[in-house]
Amino acid sequence: MMKIAVIRAPFDPVCEKEVKAALDIQRSGFDLAVLIPDEEGVLPRRKRLELLRRALQPYRKAAAALQFDTEHVRNTVVFSLECADEEEALARTGRFDKAARGIRKILAEEGLYLEQIVDANCSPHRAAHSKSVAQVCLRLAHAHHLNEFQAWKAGMLHDLTKSWDDERGRKLLEVYDPGRLKLSPKVWHSYTAPVWLKQVMGIQDRQILQAIGHHTLGTGSGDLDMILYIADKTEPLRGYDSSYEIAVSEKNLKEGAALVLSESKKYLREKEGIDV
Ligand SMILES: [Fe+2]
Ligand SMILES: [Fe+2]
Repeated sequence: MMKIAVIRAPFDPVCEKEVKAALDIQRSGFDLAVLIPDEEGVLPRRKRLELLRRALQPYRKAAAALQFDTEHVRNTVVFSLECADEEEALARTGRFDKAARGIRKILAEEGLYLEQIVDANCSPHRAAHSKSVAQVCLRLAHAHHLNEFQAWKAGMLHDLTKSWDDERGRKLLEVYDPGRLKLSPKVWHSYTAPVWLKQVMGIQDRQILQAIGHHTLGTGSGDLDMILYIADKTEPLRGYDSSYEIAVSEKNLKEGAALVLSESKKYLREKEGIDV
């Protein structure tokens, strides 16, 4: 008779440690491990099941299901995973390196948990700004028949490393982008973010990474570079009437970016005494 291990956890999302623990349980004397996502979670249960199935694809003796009738099958033992909460909570802050190998790419590409990631890495003020930037990005991409989802993602991700202290930023730039250290620490987050996003979240989209690298100084000339730059400077929560700049940008991105850049330089000269 088949001996089955039923393993329950939120799997929100399924983590590498959980896959390993489940396989260990199965190998300890079961013919099959059936992993079942709990009812409650950030992602819908069906989505968590889909991710679980992806994560378990390489393993013949592990499967995923929404339910398993333990009463009618003898030789069943139910387990819950101890490592689940901590690992999954970390993954939901953007630590996709904690997620199961087979789903990391999907998490990054589909922008899953992005709201939670922004909230976990930013102050409430910065999180609201990022979400507002993402909405302006989406609006501009729509106006120019560009990829709206990609633009929205760039907006959500652009300030994720802004809360880092200078020491953390310096350490990363010393290794990956030392030329930037001569710039003011205020702009370092433009250069630390692409490294962190690539290494930890597995973001591969070069256009997104590039646009984030250009977002503070407005040095990019690609469509997404300009969209993110304009959106970052004009999003409504900044507290000034930017409707003219946004309207110009909806008609012509280059003109909009040039307008925002000249206004931003003027502002820095007059208010901050910085000559740019
Ligand atoms: Fe920024
Ligand atoms: Fe920003």
